Amino acid sequence: MFPDITCDDIFRLETAHLWLRWLRATDAPALGALAGLAQVAEMTATLPHPYPPGEAERFILRSRAETAAGDSLILAVAAKTKSQPLVGVVSAVAGERHEVEIGYMIAPAVAGRGFASEAAAALVDAVFNLTEARVVIANSRIVNPASRRVLEKCGFSSRGRRRTRCRRAAAICHAISSNSTAIAGPGADAPAGSRRWRSNALPPYRREWASTRNRRRVARPTACSPARGRAADARPRRSSR
Ligand SMILES: CC(C)(COP(=O)(O)OP(=O)(O)OC[C@H]1O[C@@H](n2cnc3c(N)ncnc32)[C@H](O)[C@@H]1OP(=O)(O)O)[C@@H](O)C(=O)NCCC(=O)NCCS
Repeated sequence: MFPDITCDDIFRLETAHLWLRWLRATDAPALGALAGLAQVAEMTATLPHPYPPGEAERFILRSRAETAAGDSLILAVAAKTKSQPLVGVVSAVAGERHEVEIGYMIAPAVAGRGFASEAAAALVDAVFNLTEARVVIANSRIVNPASRRVLEKCGFSSRGRRRTRCRRAAAICHAISSNSTAIAGPGADAPAGSRRWRSNALPPYRREWASTRNRRRVARPTACSPARGRAADARPRRSSR
């Protein structure tokens, strides 16, 4: 589902205040501290509570394997400060019928600064721009108005209450289609409702993505220089006469 560009651990998305990048082994302590919080675990479908020792390391390994395989896009959310601390995690997982399900968690210490909305909007934008997905869905617990507000700000609408992977309580499914108008797009400067997800605008993170692609394009011939040399040798030479 996800293209080669996301399957490489140099892939990252940039938003106004955040980097969304692959999880690393060094994220384990911060991830364990975040995922271990009861108030975070009880709002998610899959986090065990109490969070077992070593689970953060296992989660990082699984996430990297799934993202490398192109089945998912699971990224650390890091603040754009000097030390770039991990403040959350976002995920996009391929489902059935061109649907992708997203999830997110943000550290309570930085809640209310718009980080979840910014990260979720960038992730949705990446899904619609980089994959064939037509619809992105997200499930939030009925008792989680902050998460519903995040989805509302990103332009999602409610599909109503439904049975979900959430084993703890009933959840509301929200969805957004690739034709929807983005309310809070990743370009924080974009006026509300001014753009569609499939637009020609180049949000900030895509500049990084584009420059990454250019770097790789430049890097390849150097890596293959022997073959390149042979190809050059095989080329017909102009006669000196
Ligand atoms: C829910 C969560 C992702 C929100 O992260 P965040 O960075 O604080 O989100 P944002 O700042 O982008 O937006 C939160 C919005 O919810 C609003 N909000 C917060 N608490 C609220 C409440 N009790 N009732 C109504 N709205 C609330 C905020 O005012 C804000 O809206 P605004 O920008 O219009 O003022 C974060 O608290 C979290 O990770 N919780 C635990 C895990 C979780 O719930 N994950 C989602 C699973 S679906």
